[in-house]
Amino acid sequence: MVYLTRRERFSAAHRLFKPEWNDEQNFAFYGACSNPNWHGHNYILYVTVKGNVNPETGFAVNIKDLSTIIKEKVIIKLDHKNLNIEVDFLKNEIISTENVAMKIWEQLIDPIKALGVELYKIKIDETENNSVEYFG
Ligand code: NI
Repeated sequence: MVYLTRRERFSAAHRLFKPEWNDEQNFAFYGACSNPNWHGHNYILYVTVKGNVNPETGFAVNIKDLSTIIKEKVIIKLDHKNLNIEVDFLKNEIISTENVAMKIWEQLIDPIKALGVELYKIKIDETENNSVEYFG
């Protein structure tokens, strides 16, 4: 069994807030990420899969195929977008890195299975100091 990780990047805008709270309450809880006029992050996404190495190829999965799936299912939909209003699979979610990681997992689990490996971990760096890991 090997674990293989593909790194991708996307830049996107978001706002952390609960609609039932006013701006002051949102700022008190979420801080600068609750700015009503949005702000952006340069996110880094790590997708880790696990599987057995095929002795015929030396690969667990063709990383080019993995990269294509991540781009088609996730990166194209998120990069240079407003995560609160433009992304079908994030509708009605609080745009925390936790929720984004869990929703990306849902987008990738089946297509990755179709490649013959298993999705093991989604990791997102929101900033240099803050990251989230999700294992399903
Ligand atoms: Ni933020």
